[in-house]
Amino acid sequence: MTSATARQQTWSATSYDKHARFVSDLAGAVVEWLAPRAGERILDLGCGDGALTEKLAATGAEVVGIDASEDLLGRARSRGLNVHHADGHALTFRSEFDAVFSNAALHWMTEPDKVIAGVARALKSPGRFVGEFGGHGNVAAIVTAMRVTAQRRGGNEALAGPWFFPSPEVYADLLAAHGFDVRRIGNFPRPTPLKTGMVEWLKLFRKPFFEQYGDAQEEVLAEVEDLLRPVLCDARGNWTADYVRLRFEAVKA
Ligand code: BEZ
Repeated sequence: MTSATARQQTWSATSYDKHARFVSDLAGAVVEWLAPRAGERILDLGCGDGALTEKLAATGAEVVGIDASEDLLGRARSRGLNVHHADGHALTFRSEFDAVFSNAALHWMTEPDKVIAGVARALKSPGRFVGEFGGHGNVAAIVTAMRVTAQRRGGNEALAGPWFFPSPEVYADLLAAHGFDVRRIGNFPRPTPLKTGMVEWLKLFRKPFFEQYGDAQEEVLAEVEDLLRPVLCDARGNWTADYVRLRFEAVKA
């Protein structure tokens, strides 16, 4: 969770639990792709509050989690998990994992060459890298609404979308450049219901963009919400985020 702009993002485990539980709840398919086995040693890259790490560990695998947020790691530790504070761009593990797994974290790491190089070092041979994160076009309407608002009001438009959302072609090439054999990879839309609404999503996931407006934050949040209502809110007031996921499985020979 680093990069010039993404680095400013901070997390509250309590807010995450309340407004973003869908992140781990919707990860069943990528866990199936991983197919963890008892006795395997697995690195959960960007483990967050450990909700999925716990599920992986329940299969009998020995799971180590890393994340950049101390608050989320605190929640993971309270689940009894083996987790550490680390930057995904600078992994220091050497040939010790059967698999590296990542859900909804790689888009926060905006220097993917460094991340993939670290994953390759961390894996045994053979070893698998399985993950899911934001793909090309992810949250496009949401980012556009923030950009438009920044253009109208002034402010740092780049704070609207600091993430790495590659197409499958781009990510497959990156994996291959680091010696991975890409077994399967694809992008797919996953419209995601936001049970607690758009404003809570914006406050949780794009805090630095709104913080730049100081006392006018609530007003700016309302402006972005108004722009999005016609496209992401139904007639009953239910909000859906325009998520696109990229899922992949790659093997280090
Ligand atoms: C995602 O999981 O796709 C995501 C999370 C936070 C911000 C943007 C996208």
